[in-house]
Amino acid sequence: MVNKQPIGIFDSGIGGLTVFRSIANLLPQYDYVYLGDNARAPYGNRSFNTIHQYTWECVQELFAMGCPLVVLACNTASAKALRTIQQQDLKTVDPTKRVLGVIRPTAEVIGNYTQTKHIGVLGTKGTVQSGSYLLEIANFFPDVTVHQQSCPLWVPLIENAEHDKPGSDYFVKKYLDQLLEQSADIDTILLACTHYPLLQKKIEAYLPAHIRVVAQGDIVAQSLVNYLQRHPEMESKLSKTGEKRFFTTSDDTTDFDNLATSFFTEPVKSSFLHLK
Ligand code: DGL
Repeated sequence: MVNKQPIGIFDSGIGGLTVFRSIANLLPQYDYVYLGDNARAPYGNRSFNTIHQYTWECVQELFAMGCPLVVLACNTASAKALRTIQQQDLKTVDPTKRVLGVIRPTAEVIGNYTQTKHIGVLGTKGTVQSGSYLLEIANFFPDVTVHQQSCPLWVPLIENAEHDKPGSDYFVKKYLDQLLEQSADIDTILLACTHYPLLQKKIEAYLPAHIRVVAQGDIVAQSLVNYLQRHPEMESKLSKTGEKRFFTTSDDTTDFDNLATSFFTEPVKSSFLHLK
């Protein structure tokens, strides 16, 4: 890893892999380090201060591995920690480093998907309570109404590999019903948590056919392409040998490896990262 300058991808757990897969498809030439804070996931129900502290610790680990650029592939961290990191923390360590989130690039395009101008946003408690999607979507699409629903049990089901099992159906249906009760006009549902695409098939099965479900991976990947085109000073720093490395803060890496392997063509063997 010496001399390598990979792109860092961070999530509280395995959800960020749904974004990483899209990024690696579109930009296979770069080196990447993925870090999942599985030992402390889920972040969604935690306080602002805790989410900021955990996210910043992990971002610094990625900086220490040589990453000049880190993508927070996590809506909760993007909603609760990104601004403080960008505006305060970076200058205390290295102002040339960059950290990007997933909420703004999604808000920039999501209004293009709806005909009825009513969007449902599904996210963690932290993301929903932050109101970030309400604010950001209103900025870009003032004529769109956003209906939010938090789904606090979905990430625990996914992190515990229960999402494909019949037991998860009850909670999939429960939160979708709560969202749809808010408006009959919703024609687009944004999965505003990077874990949720793992439940996408079940989600779609419980929705009427006219409602479109949108995952963020491809949107965030395209926005990273645009970012690197606009920032040649960053692009030129990044090393390009097409290497992917994976770290998890969980001391048992088996679950992470099994799931991550299903996302990529080659088997994933992650390493345990012990947070100090
Ligand atoms: N994958 C994360 C997100 O996009 C968060 C999940 C969590 O740890 O609660 O919000």
